[in-house]
Order: sequence, then C-alpha cells, then structure tokens
Amino acid sequence: MSNIDHDKREFLATSATAAAGLFIASAASAEAATPAQAISSQPSKGATWMISEIKPKPLSFDVAKLKGLSAKLIESHWANNYSGSVKTLNAVNAQLSQALDNQEIPPFVYNGLKREHLIRTGSVILHELYFDNLGGDGKAEGEIRSAIAKQFGTFDRWETEFRKIAQGLGGGSGWVILGHNKRFGTLENYWSWDHAHFPAETVPLLVMDMYEHSYQMDFGAAAAKYIDAFFNNINWDEVARRTGSAAKN
Ligand SMILES: [Fe+2]
Repeated sequence: MSNIDHDKREFLATSATAAAGLFIASAASAEAATPAQAISSQPSKGATWMISEIKPKPLSFDVAKLKGLSAKLIESHWANNYSGSVKTLNAVNAQLSQALDNQEIPPFVYNGLKREHLIRTGSVILHELYFDNLGGDGKAEGEIRSAIAKQFGTFDRWETEFRKIAQGLGGGSGWVILGHNKRFGTLENYWSWDHAHFPAETVPLLVMDMYEHSYQMDFGAAAAKYIDAFFNNINWDEVARRTGSAAKN
C-alpha cells in the first residue's frame, strides 16, 4: 500500500471510528438530560456481536528459505501490514457491535465503519492467501499446469497475462488474482484494485500482493524484480489444493 493510500485508510478509519465514538459519547450525555433518549441509546441487554476476535495466521513456511525475497521483507509485511489489518478489523468489529445497538448513530456514520469493515476484511483474507501461496519452488506441474494451459491456450500465455497485470500495478496498489469463476466455469486472472474489488462467485487460487510495501524494502521501485521473485517462490501445491477444493464446492 502506498503511503498515500495507507494514510487515507488510516484517516478514514480514524474519522469513522471517531465519529461513531462521538455519537456514542453524545448519547451518553443525552442519558443524563432526557431519560427517554437514554433508554433508546443503551445497548440491548444480552446483545452480542457474532464475530469473535480474529488472530493473525502464522506464516506457513520458513522465511529463510525463500529465494530472492528477504526474511526481513516478509516478516515486516506480515507483522505490520497484515497484522495491522487484523488489529484494525478487530477494532472496527468492536465499534460496529456498539454502534448497531445505538439508535443515535446515523446510517452514514455506520456506513463509514462498514466501508472500513469491507476493506479490512479483504486485506486480511487476501494477505493470508498471499502468504500461503508462497514458500514453494515456483514450478507448476501436473493437473494445475494442464488446467491453466487448457484455459489460456498455453501455460505461458497465462503467465504472460498475470505478469502484465502485475506490471501495470507496479508503483500503484492492488492485487493480481488467478481465480476460479464458478459462474462462467473458467480460470481467469483479475486486476484487483484495493482490497475490495473482486468478482462474486469466484474463488481465489493464486494471489499476488502488488502494494509497494510488498517489495519496496528489497527492490525499491523495481517492481519487475519482485514479480520475478514472486514467481520463483509460488507454492503450486497450495494453488492446486485450492483449485481442487473450488471444483468440488
Ligand atoms: Fe500487503
């Protein structure tokens, strides 16, 4: 994520959270002045939020064994960007739980929280898929290679498009995703701007983070070098597992 995007996210999260907090505080003030309003602003007794605290998912591979991606880069990405999104998502969920039971909170303030909820949910899940499809030898073989080749004409044609999308996101922010589109019965590469743009009815099979934080520490602005390194470390066994699972469900 670029600094600008990150700052914007943080601003929106802070604004939405602060706004929700303000209305909660306002309701508390109203409690003393007008008992009727105070009753309506109280959380429902026994109401609980359905989502329990989310814990960061540990890396599934030895960072020291990656080829061309430093342990420092991956550990920083996991600890700061991914775990930061987990932390923020938990905070947003807690705010939503309070806000849902507070009738004083207007829809636009609630939706500020829901917007952040959507973005952070996407960030957490996409990062987990991304890390889990690293740690391999980068060699696509067997059925997964054949399935991709069948869809794209050749495996190389698929790789050319995937890399092209990644190159186009260099210096920007977003994800490249090979997905199983269940509606069309196809394997397709998707350009995914931000954490919240991805087709419905599609299962992510291979996920690549193209936010600058995913490569800047090792490669500066040289996104092409990161793309090469990513391909050398793809865990195709995990991609094949996801593909088989998507086909069954
Ligand atoms: Fe990231």
